[in-house]
Amino acid sequence: MSHADWAVQDGAVVEQPRDVQRHPLLAAIYDSHDELIADYLPEGETLELAFGRHIHPRADVGTEAWRSNAVGVERPAVLGDARSLPFDDGVFDAVIGRRFLHHVPEADRADILQEANRILRPGGRVVLVEGTPGLYRRLTKGAAFHLGLLDDDNDRYGHLSEAAVTDLVRDSFAVVTKRTLGSPLMLASIARSPLAASLFPLYERTQCVKWWTFVVGRKPASDG
Ligand SMILES: C[S@@+](CC[C@H](N)C(=O)[O-])C[C@H]1O[C@@H](n2cnc3c(N)ncnc32)[C@H](O)[C@@H]1O
Repeated sequence: MSHADWAVQDGAVVEQPRDVQRHPLLAAIYDSHDELIADYLPEGETLELAFGRHIHPRADVGTEAWRSNAVGVERPAVLGDARSLPFDDGVFDAVIGRRFLHHVPEADRADILQEANRILRPGGRVVLVEGTPGLYRRLTKGAAFHLGLLDDDNDRYGHLSEAAVTDLVRDSFAVVTKRTLGSPLMLASIARSPLAASLFPLYERTQCVKWWTFVVGRKPASDG
């Protein structure tokens, strides 16, 4: 089964991820994350970095390093690298980035937060969702590979711990909130059956099982 094309570009793993809308439970999970993220977005212009095939409804523009991801997104999309953004200083009020810091080498990750800080207005926010490493992730992903539900693993740089994501944000921003989001019920979230979506209430009850880290940072109002 093949759902994604991918390549390594200047060290970053770029790809066309699976189409979320074809996986009903995953689509419901993305919708719930969209709502959570919206609670933290200020008014104004929002950029989503590395949106893959799902851009936030409140995003005004997206940036992606994999050209074909812009097709069908129905939003202005700019081909670009999050480590060196093609935007002027201070032009956005919010920057969203989901599940992509682990696609760049560790040494490049601070550049992404510094670029987000540069293009934000004072008081602007960065909103990140990243996968957590750990035994549960290894076991569920291992099972999915074993069952042929996942392709080749391109996770070459490993996921960031909650502390690593928070520290990156803290280096350039004041931390507004940090929390863990729970289990995506991996096997069911990959399934395409509409029945899988009926597991959403169960997903909501398993928030104690760490799967994603959610961190929001605010750019200080002035440099002084
Ligand atoms: C796991 S996917 C996540 C996509 C989407 N954010 C989501 O949550 O469904 C990672 C995405 O990051 C993109 N990406 C990786 N490195 C990047 C970079 N340096 N600049 C911009 N996009 C990048 C890939 O092309 C891919 O679409």
